[in-house]
Amino acid sequence: MSAPKRYTVTSALPYANGPLHVGHIAGAYLPGDIYVRYLRQRGRDVVYVCGSDEHGAAITIQAKKEGTTPQAIIDKYHEINKQAFKDLGIDFDIYHRTSSELHRETASNYFKDLYDKGVFEERETEQYYDEDFSQFLADRYIVGTCPNCGNDNAYGDQCEKCGTTLSPDELISPRSMLSNKPPVKRLTKHWYLPLNQYEEWLRSWIIKGEGRTEEWKVNVAGQCRSWIEQGLHPRSITRDLDWGVPVPLPGAEGKVLYVWLDAPIGYISATKQWAVDNGKQWEPYWKDAETKLVHFIGKDNIVFHCIIFPVILKANDYILPTNVPANEFMNLEGRKLSTSRNWAVWVHEYLRDFPGQEDVLRYYLCSNMPETKDSEFTWADFQAKNNNELVATLGNFVNRVMVLTNKYYNGIVPQGPQDVLKQEDADFLAQIDRAYKNISESIEKYEFRAAQNSLMELARQGDKYLGTLEPWKLIKTDPVRTAEVLYNSLQVIGHLSQLAQPFLPNTAAKLRRMLHLNANVAWNEQATLLPTGYQLNQPELLFSKIEDETIQIQVDKLHASQPMTTPTEETQKSVILSNVILSGVEGGVEGGAEGSAYEPMKAEIVFDDFAKIDLRAGTILAAEKVAKADKLLKFTVDLGFEQRTIVSGVAMHFKPEQCIGQRVSIVANLAPRKLKGIESQGMILLAEDSTGKLYFTEPTVGTPNGAVIR
Ligand code: MF3
Ligand code: ZN
Repeated sequence: MSAPKRYTVTSALPYANGPLHVGHIAGAYLPGDIYVRYLRQRGRDVVYVCGSDEHGAAITIQAKKEGTTPQAIIDKYHEINKQAFKDLGIDFDIYHRTSSELHRETASNYFKDLYDKGVFEERETEQYYDEDFSQFLADRYIVGTCPNCGNDNAYGDQCEKCGTTLSPDELISPRSMLSNKPPVKRLTKHWYLPLNQYEEWLRSWIIKGEGRTEEWKVNVAGQCRSWIEQGLHPRSITRDLDWGVPVPLPGAEGKVLYVWLDAPIGYISATKQWAVDNGKQWEPYWKDAETKLVHFIGKDNIVFHCIIFPVILKANDYILPTNVPANEFMNLEGRKLSTSRNWAVWVHEYLRDFPGQEDVLRYYLCSNMPETKDSEFTWADFQAKNNNELVATLGNFVNRVMVLTNKYYNGIVPQGPQDVLKQEDADFLAQIDRAYKNISESIEKYEFRAAQNSLMELARQGDKYLGTLEPWKLIKTDPVRTAEVLYNSLQVIGHLSQLAQPFLPNTAAKLRRMLHLNANVAWNEQATLLPTGYQLNQPELLFSKIEDETIQIQVDKLHASQPMTTPTEETQKSVILSNVILSGVEGGVEGGAEGSAYEPMKAEIVFDDFAKIDLRAGTILAAEKVAKADKLLKFTVDLGFEQRTIVSGVAMHFKPEQCIGQRVSIVANLAPRKLKGIESQGMILLAEDSTGKLYFTEPTVGTPNGAVIR
């Protein structure tokens, strides 16, 4: 099959409401980057676009949470994320922003075009409204109990626990994210995309595969099928909000485009900006049927990219995606990655802690990519993959060959085999062709784990060849054969410097430098890259061993980041938004149920660490709510020798009257601190189960107040 004329490749625009973690990278960015690097290397015409998703409730709610403006939030995270991508070698042709003028104009015109074509339905309906905040409540502004799984922090658009897509009316006991009160209903007008009218077409396109040239992944096709089979309904594509692209119609003041209409159009506006910047035309990349459009996303974005956006594209005669190779989720050390719980490996922190080791993270994430099912990041496995594969196989092979070539031949490629190849050499060199074939076939099928594994297989074969023929012994008896062995090994290394480029771009660049090869990497399977007599450069170290201590620091950091039950300064700021915000404003490639019922253990401490803590038995004498703080209760606790005032963030869990007389364990020597103007003189110990339910840790009956716990 001949290659498509051109490619438009996208990775999901991350919300600019927080930093990126390894789950995002493994889900939607690393696969896109590998794919595009490979295409470029093969000389294909490709544009790879991404950028910040800067509208929607994800942004405005984060602004409230950080006590600042939406603009400040997007400016901050756009820069952080752009830099993190760059440093990790995720090589977009453009990293755009949906807050840009060009985007607003593009999205606005796109809406207007569809409106003029009569695509939308206009409807006046009753929607939830928060009277205290004078705001309609859609999407993440409304929370309630999920009708599907009973999670009582489900959003108005989705339950992140079970993944069900919801509408606000489906929530049981809805409450406002702003005031935490039950909302009222008010009449408002919106524009709807009549998905029902496209149902038959979607059925034939997605389920029957009519008009498609590629198979879709099972996980992707399955989700789409279940959506279609449940029946499609008109979907509102405008919102009553003041943050977003204004609806370009008379009588639509105070209304903006729904973020999930606006954001994917961001792919188009990014392409436009790229075209302007590079003297290209953008239209062929979105309108020419010979263009292959591929969206890289995480599984929580499937419906938007496979059903809603295609309808929007089709309605305006744009091309449809050829494929949407969505990934599943990556978990971390046995639990779901979570931004709000700070259970994550942050990309910008990794890059700071492991300078020069960008490729190690890329390698590990690719080898563990959640292509067909959820996968797991563990620091121990990260270390093992580095030490046993990158260092011990690829690094070791390259290093031995380079060092020997330097030592025996002053870094000049020696005489290779003449006449007929020995069988072992022919078998060895045949691995090169095999690697090109396997890697390209796997990448074209979006099987990046397999592709990278084929790359490593070539290095493994090299290491084995060297280990079997032992040129360092051969040199004493058979200099001709020694030269042949090193010559053959160098040919493999030359090809490794090409083949590694999509996966390990820094390593490939280093290899090219050491081999004295041009930095422009081709996909050249036949060429003799390093002929006899060619002068190599000095060897550089490709990888280094990661020690146990380095890993322990990361594991400790992860566990140390876990919140305590008493509110910190940080959580105080969000009191007005209630505990809903604290329990999970997730963005991007994550969200959902926790992976395990138990929190992992913290790092070991010595007895002296423990002995510093003064724990006492006590009794709660009085309890009351703290004014203007939904989460806080103020307790008076009897410690026998004195009474203490202790403020604790448990108002969502216990009623004040329930607490009076409760026996408690207290951290008595914690430095006092002020919460809502009240000095809290200690901490009440609470146990928390996997659902977030709290329990007092009460001393057994008869333990006197003030007794030391040790
Ligand atoms: N911001 C969304 C998320 O993180 C992804 C948007 S993808 C786009 O889940 F198609 F809308 F751009
Ligand atoms: Zn649910």
